[in-house]
Amino acid sequence: MTAVVLPLPGAEGLAAALAAPLGVLAGAVEFRRFPDGESYYRITSPVQGNDVIVVAALRDPDPVALGLAFVAETAREMGARRVGLVAPYLPYMRQDARFKDGEAITSRTFARFVSQAFDWLVTVDPHLHRYPTLDVVYTIPSRVVPSAPAVARWVRAHVARPVIIGPDSESEQWAGEVARHVGCPSQVLAKTRLGDRHVEISLPEPGLAEGRQPVLLDDIISSGHTMAEAVRHVRSAFGTPPLCIGVHALFAPEARDLLLNAGASQVLTCNTVPDASNAVDVLPDIAAAVRPLLQAGV
Ligand code: R5P
Repeated sequence: MTAVVLPLPGAEGLAAALAAPLGVLAGAVEFRRFPDGESYYRITSPVQGNDVIVVAALRDPDPVALGLAFVAETAREMGARRVGLVAPYLPYMRQDARFKDGEAITSRTFARFVSQAFDWLVTVDPHLHRYPTLDVVYTIPSRVVPSAPAVARWVRAHVARPVIIGPDSESEQWAGEVARHVGCPSQVLAKTRLGDRHVEISLPEPGLAEGRQPVLLDDIISSGHTMAEAVRHVRSAFGTPPLCIGVHALFAPEARDLLLNAGASQVLTCNTVPDASNAVDVLPDIAAAVRPLLQAGV
């Protein structure tokens, strides 16, 4: 198989780390911004006749989103066979309905944009809430890499007698899976969102956690308010500072402090969004999902 991995700005480390286990070329893309804010992209690696894997770090997606189309189309014009996208964090999935008249359903528009540019998509735990699968909005073949096996490996190696706690009903899918892999109990709290930075969360049942280390798990830590509220409740119910694991480290500026001030013992994340908190390595799982796509020539 001949393939080359091309990073969008900010994904250079991810791309290089993915090229190694796939045994493919770690390519390069030159990028700069013109004084007026427009962007310049140049693929500086050979792609003629090769499969191209564009790797994008899409926290704060707008500054690089157009780059997805610029690089994919340029790769095709340079003779790439197929062009796939590895977006370990898939943005815009949370706006999956029109909650107020006139709102943009950005998940749908972004999915159309990506589906036009690429032949396939690999991502880690997209926020599937009202959409049952990515196929509802993405028209290209997609593979969803679950973070649960990697998170469970980390929990097994670092936490004695854990109980996994999800802060809201959507987190049931991750909390339940991790608990199943680890072989420990889990519970899911109920959340009401009252604003971007205001949530109410139900109280956990202390009985289940008797003598166990609470591990709070959510797919996204953004403003940090969901996790922080859950941390406060778990501390008061169990008397033990919880460990917080987020799959995707979106982290608004105040989020980390909010969690530590609420009493989290530690905050760590998967390496889907490059961040100092990355402790759970999902790149082997991503490589395992990409390999068959290259071999099958999807
Ligand atoms: C939403 O339901 C997600 O699963 C997360 O709980 C949410 O995005 C976290 O957002 P924040 O950190 O802003 O509370």
